[in-house]
Amino acid sequence: MWMTNFLSTLVTIATLRSIHAEYYVGLPDIITPAPEFFPSPYNVTFRTGELATLSCSINNLGTKTVVWRRMGNSFPLTSGTLTVVADKRLQVAHVDFKPKWDLLIKDVKTKDAGDYECQIASKDRTVRRRITLNVVDPMVEMPEIRITEPQYVERGEQVILQCNATGEYYAPEEMDWFRNGQKLVSHSRKGIKITKQFSIPQRRFASVLEIERVSMEDDGTYVCRSSNTQITSTKVIVLNAETSHMKRGTELDNSASLQSDPNSSANPARLSALCVLVIHILAEFCVGIR
Ligand SMILES: *[C@@H]1O[C@H](CO)[C@@H](O)[C@H](O)[C@H]1NC(C)=O
Ligand SMILES: *[C@@H]1O[C@H](CO)[C@@H](O)[C@H](O)[C@H]1NC(C)=O
Ligand SMILES: *[C@@H]1O[C@H](CO)[C@@H](O)[C@H](O)[C@H]1NC(C)=O
Repeated sequence: MWMTNFLSTLVTIATLRSIHAEYYVGLPDIITPAPEFFPSPYNVTFRTGELATLSCSINNLGTKTVVWRRMGNSFPLTSGTLTVVADKRLQVAHVDFKPKWDLLIKDVKTKDAGDYECQIASKDRTVRRRITLNVVDPMVEMPEIRITEPQYVERGEQVILQCNATGEYYAPEEMDWFRNGQKLVSHSRKGIKITKQFSIPQRRFASVLEIERVSMEDDGTYVCRSSNTQITSTKVIVLNAETSHMKRGTELDNSASLQSDPNSSANPARLSALCVLVIHILAEFCVGIR
């Protein structure tokens, strides 16, 4: 009679084992098959201040103990559900009879980044699983949008405007350019090129607006808007080199900058025109001495 009971128990155990590993805690080693890890991510990334979770779930643990270690440290961080190190931020998330032995790190810091190991300690061998914890500092990846400084250019020159946007959780999906309220696309007119690029891990979207040879009609306010509704703007001030230094005083220059910028002495438009003049003189001088 006890024999049949024992056999039927074995059969039940064998059936149950394939269904729910957690029922096996406490069974003798002879019956319990080797522990094995459930699949879980090997490489996880959290932002500083978050609750970092390093997953470790084990099938057929039996009576063995789960130990978390930081690679390179001889002492364990945790043993079973006990936190061994004096760091209140560390905790093992385990519920009795469940296979989960996750390591939780509250308020995770960049110094916590590194390789960790979830180990099963037993007398004959140690089974281990390594997890890499990456910690990113949101201070360096705050949501923001940046655009090139205002550009003062001569007619016919090339202009390159860059706009970079970082999303809070995800990279923006799209970015649009406008000049004086009108949307620009590549080839809106000949010589306009817009390129876009985004990086998912960096949550960044970057776009470059290139104007091959500026003309007076390219003068204006350029707005860059990301799909995350971030918005910023800059100006392109197109100078007409000839009119700005030859007809000064006799005719109003069509450059918007000359009217809007009261600081005439430091006016970049005039400085720029002056530069052109100086370059011309130098060029002639250099040709002369050859
Ligand atoms: C782990 O993830 C981080 C962040 O996504 C990445 O930079 C790194 O290359 C990954 N490492 C491995 C070994 O896959
Ligand atoms: C945009 O990002 C690129 C690449 O990181 C950088 O070279 C450029 O200076 C950035 N532009 C602006 C306006 O922030
Ligand atoms: C004019 O110059 C002053 C001092 O140099 C500066 O504070 C001010 O912002 C300038 N104004 C403009 C429109 O550039």
